[in-house]
Amino acid sequence: MNPNDVTEINLRLGWPNPRVLPIKLLQEASQLALSKPEAYTRDSLLEYGTDDGFKSLRDKIAAWLTTFYLPSQPITTERICISGGASQNLACVLDTFTDPAVTQYIWMIAPTYFCACRVFDDAGFAGRLRTVPEDSEGMDICFLCEQLKIAEDTRPVSTVATKTRRPWNKTYRHVIYLVPTFANPSGRIMSARRREELVRVARKHDASIVSDDVYDMLGWYYSASENEGIRKTCQPRPVDVDRYLDGGPSDYFGNAISNGSFSKIIGPGLRTVAD
Ligand SMILES: Cc1ncc(COP(=O)(O)O)c(C=O)c1O
Repeated sequence: MNPNDVTEINLRLGWPNPRVLPIKLLQEASQLALSKPEAYTRDSLLEYGTDDGFKSLRDKIAAWLTTFYLPSQPITTERICISGGASQNLACVLDTFTDPAVTQYIWMIAPTYFCACRVFDDAGFAGRLRTVPEDSEGMDICFLCEQLKIAEDTRPVSTVATKTRRPWNKTYRHVIYLVPTFANPSGRIMSARRREELVRVARKHDASIVSDDVYDMLGWYYSASENEGIRKTCQPRPVDVDRYLDGGPSDYFGNAISNGSFSKIIGPGLRTVAD
């Protein structure tokens, strides 16, 4: 083997080999998008656009996610928000849905995606990250439920919020962070039964489930004859479970958020995410 052909693989970080990045396809796609007459209008993809992101992109992502996740109801454009990647969006989610004066703890399986912990610290939760064990079906929901009850019995809910209430925000008492499909680092897939239990526990204890769904599309068929990537999800996302379970959410916000990303399916430099 020619020593120049050897590519060093750093197993500490999930950096893809540059040779697998779809550079040509992205070149063609940008050229096509920028050559359309819409590129020169007020709704152009190069304009500021609305707060939730470029409408045409949100429409297409909503339709695409509906075909992949097959939820009971189609995913609507209003549910999609474009941001700069799953990690950055975690910070936005915490900014919008937590207040360190009111939100008590962040619950998670340990170890987990390491960058998330720094985001939690930076959002004011240093020293308030709590671990939950996992087994072959995923997060141990009985343990989580017991601990949430103990936490609430030891500290009454605080009413001294430090954040201004806006129509688009809400403060939850707890955050449950997890990677339910192809978990980082265990690779486990949380069972459907556990996902439903998780949503019920979150509703009962005023928690927001922040579900890092960035790996959902990276599965393969097990049969040797089928060599394509999976075309539909292996389990419903907690956010979709929250839409159907026991009649759906009790308010506009519900108890689950999905953090998606193009980092794992196109390239990490494409800082765009859909929730
Ligand atoms: C669980 C998990 N979430 C998010 C990310 C990064 O996503 P993004 O590049 O969109 O910030 C990673 C990358 O390793 C990850 O493992």
